[in-house]
Amino acid sequence: MARLKTAVLISGRGSNLAALIRAAEAADYPAEIALVVSNRADAGGLALAEAAGIATAVIDHRGFAERDAFDRAVEAAIVDAGCTLICLAGFMRILGAALVERWSDRILNIHPSLLPAFPGLDTHRRALAAGVRITGATVHLARPAVDDGPIIAQAAVPVLPEDGEADLADRVLAAEHRLYPLALGLLAAGRVRVADGRVRIDGPVDWPASPLISPVPE
Ligand code: GRF
Repeated sequence: MARLKTAVLISGRGSNLAALIRAAEAADYPAEIALVVSNRADAGGLALAEAAGIATAVIDHRGFAERDAFDRAVEAAIVDAGCTLICLAGFMRILGAALVERWSDRILNIHPSLLPAFPGLDTHRRALAAGVRITGATVHLARPAVDDGPIIAQAAVPVLPEDGEADLADRVLAAEHRLYPLALGLLAAGRVRVADGRVRIDGPVDWPASPLISPVPE
């Protein structure tokens, strides 16, 4: 089985990157993390990648006058590394529509809410302010609008009465770390189809069961 080379784009600590690296250590996982790109030289995730022997590239957005030039530099690094999939994992730059469209259905994003609720920043603060009882995490195919695109997988996470932002962020993050490897695995295995703007998954989902994660394993 050919493992699809995947680039992970980060800006920070890289805990989702770590979850993807761990998943890709399994010989039967259909993706290989072949490159980590950060727009910040001080991103903690770079050290995680280096420790795992994964190539890294720092491309500082401040060195580019135009978004498109930055996007092209990121894309060139990804193509040079032979990657055909991209995972956004806490990457705090908005990719331009041209790049997103060139890589249509080949860019994944993870967001710490049950989209389409609470796109954008300050997700947990807004979830708490809205008083939702259940929040969660979403992995979706990227589209030009921020946190928009066909949903591959979601995990539901309860909001507890005494939760502050940090409590909720921690609980959701634990779900993210299970969800992202599931979604990338499905995409890399060629099992994600998009029809009428919605994702259909081919075949049964073989993953440790959780009633709070969908697609549910069979
Ligand atoms: C995660 O909560 C992710 O959903 C959001 O940014 C955070 C990144 O965390 N897009 P990490 O760098 O993966 O630890």
